[in-house]
Amino acid sequence: MKRIVTITFNPALDKSTVVPALLPDKKLKCSVPVFQPGGGGVNVARAIVKLGGTATAVYLAGGHTGAFFHDLLEAELVASIRIPIAGITRENLILYNNSTKEQFLLDMPGPQVTQEEWQHFQLRLEALTRDAAFVVASGSLPPGVPANAFSVAGRIAQQNGAAFVVDTSGEPLKLAANSGVYFLKPNLGELAALTGKDKLTGEEVVHAAQQVLDQEGCEFLVVSLGAAGAMLVERKKVHRIQAPVVKRLSTVGAGDSMVAGIVTKLAAGEDILQAVKYGVACGTAATMHPGTTLCKQEDADVLFRSMG
Ligand SMILES: Nc1ncnc2c1ncn2[C@@H]1O[C@H](COP(=O)(O)OP(=O)(O)OP(=O)(O)O)[C@@H](O)[C@H]1O
Ligand SMILES: [Mg+2]
Repeated sequence: MKRIVTITFNPALDKSTVVPALLPDKKLKCSVPVFQPGGGGVNVARAIVKLGGTATAVYLAGGHTGAFFHDLLEAELVASIRIPIAGITRENLILYNNSTKEQFLLDMPGPQVTQEEWQHFQLRLEALTRDAAFVVASGSLPPGVPANAFSVAGRIAQQNGAAFVVDTSGEPLKLAANSGVYFLKPNLGELAALTGKDKLTGEEVVHAAQQVLDQEGCEFLVVSLGAAGAMLVERKKVHRIQAPVVKRLSTVGAGDSMVAGIVTKLAAGEDILQAVKYGVACGTAATMHPGTTLCKQEDADVLFRSMG
């Protein structure tokens, strides 16, 4: 299996709890909180390990939450390299309201990263991606990390001969798209924003994806479509992959599980179409469990076989 490195600029310690009801001004009795290491690239590495693969998660973290984050990743047997920062790693809150069966995702801002820390991260990344076949950069950026961080990482990955995969949004996605990316995984909203539209429907999706391929020079686009599955868009071909129908409990972690499934199969030597199909199975598998749970290999394998 080829070596996979994931990059997370803005990891978060995810704290999940359940409240009987969400009422103002009352002390709300919460269930025992569950802590999980989160953030795009870290979740991709965790899901790859769940799928039987291996990946090294490289991430910026600091403070007591950063240390706890590192311990949680070690406990999950995810190989990881923490690049230290002085700021305290953020803690996100995932609140499940048991009376309405609604889930709330409270996303905190990341810690400030200094210019020296960012410079140091770039130097380390050069060495850490040297023998990688795939480098997956995913998630948001903390304050202090420049908007072109994904393209900087992409250039380093490319110089080291690795295929670079990006899953992010907004300005960082725009700036990443032309940095020699192997594939981008935007969802519909992200693809629309990338092409300057409010929303995309029908054939507009294919046109927008092909416009990105023509203008930016990445090899593929995997456009994820939620319950409708995904589209693998190449310059001259489009493949539509229907997602299997399951009872959806929570879609949190679906995108990360999908990227993990695709890269796991690519690293094992599968072609891109089979890999994306497996990615769809993994994304759907993640929706079968509550909260922030990522895909499980047995669910993903059953769904993949059912897709024919
Ligand atoms: N409701 C659903 N039913 C079945 N499969 C789903 C559903 N939602 C998501 N998926 C699966 O997960 C994949 C990725 O989902 P989606 O397009 O929602 O990504 P995303 O918006 O990037 O998600 P995230 O919020 O995790 O970043 C889909 O291609 C599909 O395979
Ligand atoms: Mg996503």
